[in-house]
Amino acid sequence: MASVLILFAHPALEKSKTNRILMGACQSVESVTVNDLYEEYPDFDIDVDREQQLLLEHDYIILHHPMYWYSSPAMVKQWQDLVLEHGWAYGREGNALVGKKIFNVITTGGPQRAYAEAGYNRFTIQQFLAPFDQTAYLCKMIYLPPFVVHGTHRLTEAEMHQYARQYRSLLTLLTTDQVAVEDARKRSYLNEMLVD
Ligand SMILES: Cc1cc2nc3c(=O)[nH]c(=O)nc-3n(C[C@H](O)[C@H](O)[C@H](O)COP(=O)(O)O)c2cc1C
Repeated sequence: MASVLILFAHPALEKSKTNRILMGACQSVESVTVNDLYEEYPDFDIDVDREQQLLLEHDYIILHHPMYWYSSPAMVKQWQDLVLEHGWAYGREGNALVGKKIFNVITTGGPQRAYAEAGYNRFTIQQFLAPFDQTAYLCKMIYLPPFVVHGTHRLTEAEMHQYARQYRSLLTLLTTDQVAVEDARKRSYLNEMLVD
């Protein structure tokens, strides 16, 4: 079985609708560890040894967060800055993460059509995620397309629960080794691999 680590970052979960429902769906999935970064580190004082150990113990790493200002909430950046150390995660002798798979699970207020050259956000999700893609590359990891929930402001509760079921299916596919990485890498979104 493959193991999955979810690095979850939402600074105001009490106000969240979509991510709260998504997170509800990935509790108690076998072989999945949920690491809620804002809950664990309310003062941004990240335990680097603990985080590195968690990374070593898992095959898939998910950065799960709402899109904030075309990127992630600040905690994800803090986590990257402190945990992905030179000589450990990257550099000539930094090989701790080689071959691990990583991708983003993101929710966006903007609808999918806005994330296009002709849309009001002018760039695609993949373009906004380029720093994550390149960070993975530098760490010799395999970057997969994102799983995205667009247009959160207009989603009904039923639609949110449908996305949550898809997310749970994705986790099950990953842990049971049913995702062909080369096939996944050809997609724009991992959502395309899921039916429901
Ligand atoms: C500080 C902040 C920045 C945001 N920036 C973006 C953005 O750049 N693009 C976008 O589509 N939505 C943006 N949004 C909307 C959030 O992505 C959206 O509210 C969130 O994904 C909904 O999930 P939640 O119900 O779990 O909070 C932003 C929201 C906040 C509070």
